[in-house]
Amino acid sequence: MSEKKNIVITGATSGIGRALCVEFSKEHTVYAGYRNEKLVEDLKSISHNVIPFYIDLKLPDSIAFAANFIKVKAGHVDTLINVAGCVVAGAIENIDIKRIREQFEVNTFGHLDFTQRLLPLLDDSKIINISSKASYGIFPFVSPYCASKRALDIMFNSMLLETHKNISISSVKPGVIATPLWGKSIDENEESIKNTHGFDKEIDYILESARKNETYGLDTMEVVKLILAIDKDPHPKSSYTVGKDAKLAQWISKLPQEWLNKLIKYGMRARLKYSK
Ligand SMILES: NC(=O)c1ccc[n+]([C@@H]2O[C@H](COP(=O)([O-])OP(=O)(O)OC[C@H]3O[C@@H](n4cnc5c(N)ncnc54)[C@H](OP(=O)(O)O)[C@@H]3O)[C@@H](O)[C@H]2O)c1
Repeated sequence: MSEKKNIVITGATSGIGRALCVEFSKEHTVYAGYRNEKLVEDLKSISHNVIPFYIDLKLPDSIAFAANFIKVKAGHVDTLINVAGCVVAGAIENIDIKRIREQFEVNTFGHLDFTQRLLPLLDDSKIINISSKASYGIFPFVSPYCASKRALDIMFNSMLLETHKNISISSVKPGVIATPLWGKSIDENEESIKNTHGFDKEIDYILESARKNETYGLDTMEVVKLILAIDKDPHPKSSYTVGKDAKLAQWISKLPQEWLNKLIKYGMRARLKYSK
């Protein structure tokens, strides 16, 4: 039996975050971030080792409050896992700029703010961020999401290079995972989808793929197993990919931009031709 640690997880109410909560709480104390009050009882039902805390990454006051709660309750954080995330999609030429700012609030700035506030509690500790294959930046119509994940990776990698503390920082970049994220992203982008003119075929294709991904993506356990291994590794890497699609995205992203753009345009044309 390993030593009992304090693990902090944001976005613990669903998908990858909830699955992490289930696994980590078998041995450790898990501080589990929620934003929907209705899901607190579900979190508590996982294990007596789960301590829910409220955090909405769009609300800076709630981030400060959450960090303070953990300071008082835990004192020290062994592993901080920044999981919470959402997707803003559409054609970049007409997505409302407020939505793009929100994308960065949730996927990038909120995590950075929360991490900065918890840094005094992190020493001999690990930070694990759930980034995405989208961080490789080659997916049209979800560019706010790609950019938010890339920015997350750049800033945390910089923190890793700059810090005087004994902390490891790892970015986990999954490909498509079967979670409710896909259905939610269709609902949350309804307005921008309605306002997207001139891209009907592309948007239909994106929606169709999102619906399929929720069922046919990899199992959340693929990500969870990797994170459990990172948590146990005394010298974890700074970046990991999960799934063949993520590895392909990583490889393709090394091509010169002109080649990459040609490849993506060709791929999109071919897919649109054969989609319904
Ligand atoms: N699924 C994939 O294919 C995939 C691939 C690569 C990377 N990822 C990344 O993996 C992470 C987890 O996603 P998932 O697939 O497990 O999706 P999910 O099931 O939708 O879980 C997302 C979690 O983030 C929370 N969240 C959303 N907005 C928030 C906000 N403003 N403040 C605080 N919490 C918020 C959600 O809370 P609610 O329950 O209240 O909605 C939920 O707990 C995300 O960062 C996502 O970008 C997912």
